[in-house]
Amino acid sequence: MKVILIGFGIIGKGVINVIRKKREYLKNKYGMDLKVVAICDRSGAAIDDNGLDLELALKVKEETGKISKYPEKGTSMPIVEVVKSIEADAIIEATPTNIESGEPAKTYIIEGFKSGKHVITANKGPLALYFNELLSYAKKHNRIFRYEASVGGAMPIINLAKETLAGNEIIKIKGILNGTTNYILTKMEREKLDFDTVLKEAQELGIAETNPHQDISGLDTAAKIVILANSIMNMEVTIKDVNIEGITKITPEALSMANKGGYTIKLIGEVSENKLEVGPKLIPLDDPLNVKGSLNVAMLNTDLAKEVIVVGRGAGDVETSSAILSDIINIYLKNK
Ligand SMILES: NC(=O)c1ccc[n+]([C@@H]2O[C@H](COP(=O)([O-])OP(=O)(O)OC[C@H]3O[C@@H](n4cnc5c(N)ncnc54)[C@H](OP(=O)(O)O)[C@@H]3O)[C@@H](O)[C@H]2O)c1
Repeated sequence: MKVILIGFGIIGKGVINVIRKKREYLKNKYGMDLKVVAICDRSGAAIDDNGLDLELALKVKEETGKISKYPEKGTSMPIVEVVKSIEADAIIEATPTNIESGEPAKTYIIEGFKSGKHVITANKGPLALYFNELLSYAKKHNRIFRYEASVGGAMPIINLAKETLAGNEIIKIKGILNGTTNYILTKMEREKLDFDTVLKEAQELGIAETNPHQDISGLDTAAKIVILANSIMNMEVTIKDVNIEGITKITPEALSMANKGGYTIKLIGEVSENKLEVGPKLIPLDDPLNVKGSLNVAMLNTDLAKEVIVVGRGAGDVETSSAILSDIINIYLKNK
């Protein structure tokens, strides 16, 4: 199986490291010979139809910051051209999330389908904004579209709901889908610190981004709720349909009071037929949704299996790449 990787940052490098680590396992378990025939970043691409030397690609990126510096096979060819002209079974899209336009990922995904490639993405932006349009391209070109890593990172939820729980009606999904806000609230609660102090510390530790707006305003969780609503619950909604409130007004005093009454406060995203909502909610201390630190959690209410709960890591290079690898394997097995 040949893949093109677009985006060679935290997740792109994680994907390459996971492929290196699992190369023999994939051969032995599935008979899959996985070749990365192109890697793209903002500088251009490295392209080798026989499969790139992945160690060398990581070394070039680390030393120069530019994959186009890959010896002999580096090029400044625009990414869209790489997608169109290089023969591959699938593209793995891992460029930054843009929840205003979905670009540049939207264009790469559409070009991927148009040029006959399956698409895997870790990117919430295009999914939250253009889910049905992207799905229609996949259908028109008879290609597979997978996006497990876009919600909850390594925590299985999309494929769990669509495949493992197939046959169940998913009535409601509710959970913590943003690790940064969970980290902040957990630390405020445990150490009785105010929001700004904990946010600053989380930024210094690299847990919160320099621009944390999307996380703390609830927008990131809202984008994920939209993806779940459209992909699992067959709704046709966008981020504008979500009632959103963030966590900036939560105080350590509010958390202490909640604790005294047997509750904690968590940023909860929820989707059901009548509800599309993100906001701080009181959660009983002994509730399965009361997970600590940067963990993610989701509870799916279904008609047959009743409640199903998953907990996992919502971010991290190797962790998120495990979700991408499961999508690669799924596509390979479907086309074997
Ligand atoms: N980090 C996580 O734990 C996590 C978890 C789940 C999902 N995700 C999603 O995964 C995606 C990638 O995240 P990341 O953390 O790996 O981001 P990142 O470290 O910022 O890496 C982004 C990569 O995309 C490239 N890029 C930036 N702008 C581009 C453009 N206009 N055209 C083409 N390539 C461009 C960058 O190129 P240069 O290297 O040249 O700068 C870089 O290689 C995001 O959509 C994110 O939401 C991340």
